Amino acid sequence: VPALNPSPALTVNLGERGYPVYVGPRVLEGLGALVGAHAPDAMGCVVVTSESVGRLYGGLAADSLRWLKPTVLTVPDGEQAKTWDQASALIGGFVAAGLDRRGTVVALGGGTVGDLAGFAASIYLRGVRLVQAPTTLLSQADSCVGGKTAVNLSEAKNLVGTFSQPALVAADTGLLRSLPRREVASGLAEVVKHGVIADGALFRMIGDRSREFLGGDEEALAAAVRRSLAVKASFVEGDERETRGLRVCLNYGHTVGHAVERLSGGGVRHGEAVAMGMDVAASLAVSRGLLPEKELSRQRLVLRGVGLDTRVPGVDARELLRVARRDKKAQGGRIRLVLPTGIGSRPVLEEVAEPELVRAVEENMVG
Ligand SMILES: NC(=O)c1ccc[n+]([C@@H]2O[C@H](COP(=O)([O-])OP(=O)(O)OC[C@H]3O[C@@H](n4cnc5c(N)ncnc54)[C@H](O)[C@@H]3O)[C@@H](O)[C@H]2O)c1
Ligand SMILES: [Zn+2]
Repeated sequence: VPALNPSPALTVNLGERGYPVYVGPRVLEGLGALVGAHAPDAMGCVVVTSESVGRLYGGLAADSLRWLKPTVLTVPDGEQAKTWDQASALIGGFVAAGLDRRGTVVALGGGTVGDLAGFAASIYLRGVRLVQAPTTLLSQADSCVGGKTAVNLSEAKNLVGTFSQPALVAADTGLLRSLPRREVASGLAEVVKHGVIADGALFRMIGDRSREFLGGDEEALAAAVRRSLAVKASFVEGDERETRGLRVCLNYGHTVGHAVERLSGGGVRHGEAVAMGMDVAASLAVSRGLLPEKELSRQRLVLRGVGLDTRVPGVDARELLRVARRDKKAQGGRIRLVLPTGIGSRPVLEEVAEPELVRAVEENMVG
């Protein structure tokens, strides 16, 4: 067991299910040591990664974890990996690798790999140790923390999944160097979301340092990741299973966002769709008198400043409603949206009538 133990950037405080989160350059090289420090009796390891990420960083991860004799399993890149079939194939791979209860599953990739590998690890042998090693800005700044795992069904995104917290998170910000600019922007949407719902200073930082982020400035990106995760952790700590009306705030922008993502058939990235969804929700909040108009403008300015289009591409409004009714926040088919009340202030969850939602989407639509 190699020894090395830098201090975590933050800790997610969930009692027995709590875990450290490491953020910074060269974290991946130290991954084996981090696992060793956390679970010295660990035996066996599977690294789940996607094609492109595996090509770039699979070797580095496997080398760092060599004391656990890792097996590398590769899934397709992107959203198409989040299926029952892929989960089932992964579990077959765990069996073939001889992974038992002492085993560790490492999710090395973007949010799709994290959601899929997390799901498979959470149901295999009723749950084995999961390490999140996120490689996109979106997964580093958001999805690696909180323990939501998922696969998609043809009916809707993330319809099947578990709450299952990782044992540790290792976010190597050096890996963001190879991330295409479009993926950086997509990740920034979730960071802006965290700013709007809880942290005005984080929101201002995205506006002020947008050029550095888009230019791939590692220091700036690491600062955004740390601050963004601190917001995420606070919502998760206060409402781990989304039953107290707090964690649901993290779904800001996601009802319309998921629908657009779905209807675009993969043409719109998750974060891009969330930016559109936030714009629609904020417009609705303005028309309900919940949000001052200038806050909507500020949000637009910051989103557009990092290259995110806030206008919804032409989608069929009825199709959109059909998808939105299946959103997990819907109750008895009634659509509920997280509506912002100010930059840095706690949003509210409100029921929205279908014509009102259609109008808001159409007003924000292009083409
Ligand atoms: N569990 C949660 O709490 C949570 C939160 C937010 C989003 N999500 C989910 O996350 C998913 C989106 O994640 P994402 O945006 O990371 O997408 P992704 O996993 O599809 O990754 C985006 C692309 O970047 C590539 N890539 C990854 N790392 C790279 C690197 N370092 N260099 C170069 N290329 C790299 C991938 O191969 C992929 O093609 C969605 O499915 C969404 O539902 C989950
Ligand atoms: Zn999201």
